[in-house]
Amino acid sequence: MEEQIQTLLNEINAYDASDKQALEAFRMKYISRKGVVSGLFEELKKVPVTEKKKVGKILNQLKQTAEAKLAEFTQKLDSHASPRVEIDLTLPPVPNQIGNLHPLSLTQYRIIEIFERLGFNVADGPEIEDDWHNFSALNFPENHPAREMQDTFFIEKKGHAGSSQDMLLRTHTSNVQIRMMENQKPPIRAIMPGRVYRNEAISARAHCFFHQVEGLYVDKNVGFADLKQTLYHFAKEMYGRDIKMRFRPSFFPFTEPSAEIDISCLICNGAGCNVCKYSGWVEIAGSGMVHPNVLRNCNIDPEEFTGFAFGMGIERVTMLRYQINDLRLFSENDVRFLRQFQSVI
Ligand code: PHE
Repeated sequence: MEEQIQTLLNEINAYDASDKQALEAFRMKYISRKGVVSGLFEELKKVPVTEKKKVGKILNQLKQTAEAKLAEFTQKLDSHASPRVEIDLTLPPVPNQIGNLHPLSLTQYRIIEIFERLGFNVADGPEIEDDWHNFSALNFPENHPAREMQDTFFIEKKGHAGSSQDMLLRTHTSNVQIRMMENQKPPIRAIMPGRVYRNEAISARAHCFFHQVEGLYVDKNVGFADLKQTLYHFAKEMYGRDIKMRFRPSFFPFTEPSAEIDISCLICNGAGCNVCKYSGWVEIAGSGMVHPNVLRNCNIDPEEFTGFAFGMGIERVTMLRYQINDLRLFSENDVRFLRQFQSVI
């Protein structure tokens, strides 16, 4: 019997459990009530008294070894089974929910791209402006009704000595033209995109804030033909070769002569719709040759330099570009509208 126990002891010591099932088989075989060890304890009763002590001792040793082995492997297999984060690097990625550019930004970037290739820089300026940069320097006479042409939001700014100076939300980005001409000598060739404000009733065609891109080119011998050619080029780049364009005589205090620029309506193709007011033509820009008084106000000699300027509404350009018929959609932030521009670059 002693020999048998010794063999079992070696067997148990060498035992290695690969999984829980194998370990359970081990427990059943050696430690369970019907297992080998219990059977040996049964047999121990038959062992002669003189041997009993000695055999009992090694049998106990066998029992303890088997139990220790079971405990050891139970712990080992449990720690293996504890949840491990498996990273499968071959799986396709979960796509990010990313946003997309606003249609007005898309159009603004396209406009910048077109004019940059013609050598125009991009300039920026303040949205809260003083009267000089928004009106006076642009040849708007004091108390002239033209100031009311652009329903202005005035802001009262208290001066130091109790006097108040009228500040306003710029009604056009022409203020940036003045700031540029005050600070730089010609040649100046730049466009000025930005947000502008007018106290207008909100409708499908108008809003109290919107966006403009103005352009300015001042140099020696700049003529009306340059203005026409530049804007023709722009319209063709933006809307394609088939676009029609017309110049209509107009008035702006800061340009002389002045012209409004219409393009053929891309929403109805001339059939008539609410965007073109059933005329087939849509006004996209105002333009003209910079008035000599404006150049003088910025210390530029009108005898030496001439220039052209234009200004267009980014909303209008965008509406024609994507066939959008209500300007309010741009500021309502309805994601169903905005998501439609996800694939547009
Ligand atoms: N500043 C004018 C406007 O906002 C647009 C314009 C710019 C017209 C330059 C002529 C020349 O309406």
